[in-house]
Amino acid sequence: MKTIREIQDEIIRLKRENDICILAHSYQGQEILETADFTGDSYALSVKAAGVQNKTVIMCGVRFMAETVKILSPDKRVILANPEAGCVMAEQMDKEMIEMVKPSYEGYTVVVYINTTAALKTICDVCVTSSSAVQIVRNIENDKILFIPDCNLGAYVAEQVPDKHIELLHGGCPIHAGVRVSDVRAARAAHPNAKLLVHPECVPAVVKLADYVGSTSGIMDYARQSDGKEFIIGTEMSITEHLQFECPDKRFYNLSSGLVCKNMKLTTLMDVYGAVKGIAGEEIKLDNETIRDAKRCIDEMIRLNHE
Ligand code: 13P
Ligand code: SF4
Repeated sequence: MKTIREIQDEIIRLKRENDICILAHSYQGQEILETADFTGDSYALSVKAAGVQNKTVIMCGVRFMAETVKILSPDKRVILANPEAGCVMAEQMDKEMIEMVKPSYEGYTVVVYINTTAALKTICDVCVTSSSAVQIVRNIENDKILFIPDCNLGAYVAEQVPDKHIELLHGGCPIHAGVRVSDVRAARAAHPNAKLLVHPECVPAVVKLADYVGSTSGIMDYARQSDGKEFIIGTEMSITEHLQFECPDKRFYNLSSGLVCKNMKLTTLMDVYGAVKGIAGEEIKLDNETIRDAKRCIDEMIRLNHE
């Protein structure tokens, strides 16, 4: 039987031999991140995806992330390492539902979180990620915004950009939205010197109590650069583990034991091994029309993400 280290070495050898780029979202396990060419949050991965030269890209993350890579690199083979890995939020609102809702919001710019299907993006105006949403909404020419599907991220954006009129629908991430104010109180009581860093997918009452609010990369950068020694992490708990690996002299605590995304945990090192060998994973197929229309929305994200 091979060790984790030997499997990782095999993956790295095979990806080089077969001209494969491995992208891994920061919610993946440490053993997977170590085999990746790029790691990061949804925004960083989507930008990297557009620039990579390799013929094949393997996405270690969830389906909407692999679809985003395919939209930005339609000529590449894009493989989702574990075909079962979806995102609960991305499955909440489909294209047909938003097509029905849109006539009630005439004159609104429809801003869609990247955690959505490629099909839904085709009928929206601008895509955003958690790290880019505030800046992009600020830069949208229109003052009337319909923000879908995450009402918690949308509420956070509305608070940061008070001059826009932002309408929300009731979607969101059940894992982040499951964190309660009582979890914050308990964590603060247990770790009174720790800073609280939370993802904007948490409910506004929790976000309000944070010392820092940001995307997965934003949280990691903050913790790395801070002079603080202790941090309570209000996002998926793999971030707590990665930070502890990177900064062994600091201490990191989970805000809640419920912060586990089981979809993100589905991908194993053996899935990645199977994918580089060409015997596992699913190739993402999108028709040309979907790619063209969804790309418009993602291109707008890149165009509008400036100071
Ligand atoms: P990021 O945009 O911070 O990577 O978040 C993605 C995600 O799925 C959060 O739950
Ligand atoms: Fe989707 Fe929530 Fe998992 Fe992020 S943590 S991938 S939003 S289900």
